[in-house]
Amino acid sequence: MSQAEFTISDSKVICYFDTSFTQISRIVPPENLIVVTDENIDGFYGHLFLPFRKIVIAPGENNKNRAGADFIIDRLIEMEADRSTLVLGVGGGVVTDLTGYAASVYKRGIRLAFAPTSVLAMVDAAIGGKNGLNTGFLKNIIGTTYQPEFILFDYNFLTTLPAVEWESGFAEIIKHACIRDMQMFETLERLSLHDYRQDASLLASLVEENVKLKMQIVLEDAYDRDLRLLLNFGHTIGHAVENLHAIPHGHAISIGMVAACNLSEKSGYLHFEEAQRVVRLLERYHLPVDLETEPARVFEILKSDKKRDGGFMNFIMLQGIGNGMIVPVEISFLEENISAVL
Ligand SMILES: NC(=O)c1ccc[n+]([C@@H]2O[C@H](COP(=O)([O-])OP(=O)(O)OC[C@H]3O[C@@H](n4cnc5c(N)ncnc54)[C@H](O)[C@@H]3O)[C@@H](O)[C@H]2O)c1
Repeated sequence: MSQAEFTISDSKVICYFDTSFTQISRIVPPENLIVVTDENIDGFYGHLFLPFRKIVIAPGENNKNRAGADFIIDRLIEMEADRSTLVLGVGGGVVTDLTGYAASVYKRGIRLAFAPTSVLAMVDAAIGGKNGLNTGFLKNIIGTTYQPEFILFDYNFLTTLPAVEWESGFAEIIKHACIRDMQMFETLERLSLHDYRQDASLLASLVEENVKLKMQIVLEDAYDRDLRLLLNFGHTIGHAVENLHAIPHGHAISIGMVAACNLSEKSGYLHFEEAQRVVRLLERYHLPVDLETEPARVFEILKSDKKRDGGFMNFIMLQGIGNGMIVPVEISFLEENISAVL
């Protein structure tokens, strides 16, 4: 068990790493706590939530919308939640996004905390204070920025996480290593998904490093408004691919990272051998590196990306492994090269 504290725009966020969920009553009085979770987590871990009031939502990305948020807000009203109430999102990124949003707008903001249960939520979705709701095909178009008081990391939750969700989480971990941390990249090259699933202490230190890396980017972003864009490495083309094909998010991001490496190589920022190293690492973590797709349709979706600014789009490239950078790319350059990089 270890603890770290971060101050983001005047909000203090405490991370309780490697801490059993059962310790929660020592952090918050049970009568003040409302757990928000999804049906899957509740099925496995409902016994842990018995001392608390609880809101259970339907699982899945399709429920991460205004109706899902309203469902939580309506239950908070019924439960007469007030400013002393702490809403604790226990789940993957869908639960943390929905809970974060609902807590930020209900009574203009009540107390919030997270206990992430997926690798992706531990290293990414629960960190940074952003939350997002989808509407139709538009992902994360509605949202607020609202920090949790604390985040509790209990790695025991991961024993029930499906294999494909482990892979999705590792896609984001590899993304972090690519944009910021060559040493983490080399460690990942040395180990395997199997190692991390078997050895809780290896996983614990990897999660901590990733949390600190993302927190650092969020903190630096307070001064440099664009830095957070680095976290979109692989996501611009990845989201477009995800829109077209019914593949898991992490798989789409993996394809997106390969395409971004190829574009970085074409632009002269990344050596061929380095791009190959990224591809080999993705494969090592069971992530796909190519896909039968229709590049012209991918480009059509890319054109409407929110990062587009007139004839340009801010695209995240690698200037060597461990060094992501934001490059304004002409839309016409993307159109010319999309077939070659996908
Ligand atoms: N706010 C942010 O900064 C941010 C960053 C990255 C991703 N996200 C969002 O996070 C979401 C993806 O997160 P996710 O991959 O965790 O999705 P998710 O919440 O849908 O979880 C994936 C699946 O795993 C199940 N699950 C979660 N933990 C489990 C466990 N311990 N045991 C068994 N099953 C478990 C869930 O019920 C779900 O079916 C997306 O909506 C994405 O937009 C947000």
